[in-house]
Amino acid sequence: MTRLLVRGGTVVDETGTRRADVLIDGGAIAAVGEGLRAGDAGRVLDAGGCLVAPGLVDLHAHLRQPGHEEAETIETGARAAALGGYTAVVAMPNTEPAIDCASVVRDVLELAATAACAVHPAGAITAGRAGARLAPMAEMAALGVRLFTDDGAGVQDGRLMRRALEYGSALGATLAQHCEDDSLAAGGHLHEGEWSSRLGIPGIPAEAEELMVARDVALCRLTGAPVHFLHLSTAGSIALVRTAKAEGLAVTAEAAPHHFTLTAAAAAGYDPVYKVNPPLRTDADVAAVRAGLADGAIDAIATDHAPHPPEAKEAPFDQAPPGMLGLETALALGLTELVGGHGGAGPGLGVEALLGLLSWQPARIAGLTGEHGGPVEAGRGANLCVIDPDATWTVDPDRLASRSRNTPYAGRAMTGRVRHTLLRGELVVLDGEAQR
Ligand code: DOR
Repeated sequence: MTRLLVRGGTVVDETGTRRADVLIDGGAIAAVGEGLRAGDAGRVLDAGGCLVAPGLVDLHAHLRQPGHEEAETIETGARAAALGGYTAVVAMPNTEPAIDCASVVRDVLELAATAACAVHPAGAITAGRAGARLAPMAEMAALGVRLFTDDGAGVQDGRLMRRALEYGSALGATLAQHCEDDSLAAGGHLHEGEWSSRLGIPGIPAEAEELMVARDVALCRLTGAPVHFLHLSTAGSIALVRTAKAEGLAVTAEAAPHHFTLTAAAAAGYDPVYKVNPPLRTDADVAAVRAGLADGAIDAIATDHAPHPPEAKEAPFDQAPPGMLGLETALALGLTELVGGHGGAGPGLGVEALLGLLSWQPARIAGLTGEHGGPVEAGRGANLCVIDPDATWTVDPDRLASRSRNTPYAGRAMTGRVRHTLLRGELVVLDGEAQR
């Protein structure tokens, strides 16, 4: 194991911001302070002008394995994640077969053992994500699964969701909901509003999301079980979560980068790269997501990284699958659009607040704080990222590590880039290049 000195950076974690060197030995942080030395056998990484932060944690990545390795694998998805600054990702269970029992969880954990970041599978709430009967959550929880979700679909049956909450909370797990009422969303491909009318594409109303948020806030109140709301996209949903939090209910929420950077207008040319579920919404919704990120109504930025191969995304808009890549652009979008960078009209978030949304807050929701999300202090595992906040770059789909190319940000200028990522003390990204 390498002895490594990360020298001259600005350490940012939940406890604050300070200039400090970080000495890493045997996979753990050995010391944090000024004027540290690597010793003869040690390697020195210059972090001058850079931020040294706990590795980012993604609550929501589709790694497609098992079943859709043509789109992504755990290996390629984890590499993309490491390049994006992530040391841990939660892998969504809408694989084929679904991650809905111990044997599939075991398969994923085995594939994850050599990946460039920690991969924690989420388990399905219902068998086969079919929404009819509960999956064997206890046997998955016994293997360390802490989040359960049918993501890609919401659990439509309120009674079943109530039972899942009662059962899941007894296991110490959190249930994460993809909020979409199928009866309202059916047949829709774009947010229902100006752009669905103009383009003649059937819409998905904001209420399809908001009805399920409202129902699950009520079920959270009824059961006392924690509920995490995935990829919230409407002003109404965020208002519901804000009110539920004010009431003291155990709700948390995430938003995806595309919901604070893009609107339905992006789909004006019928390009399916802008098709995603929940759909891109309105300017007012984007403003509400940004406000929610700034005032704590939303706890985490989660990528909803959803790779699809070119042949799938080259279909007509109404036939293409929903989803966008996210792991390699999330941090830069946050720095560029929320903190400042290219003069993005963001809510003026501080870097510390942004990293909270990307690292320690999601680590807490996923139950990973023992290993990920900091603080950066002696004795902790060395899961870190080194970020150059001033580096400028342009997104080139052909240079992404993901196996797919469906980024909606091709050609977009970004400020802020990951320089190094350390997983358990090993450099998995060095000078912006993947090492695994
Ligand atoms: O856009 C999406 N893509 N939303 C989902 O909920 C599922 C995801 C996927 O798996 O492609």
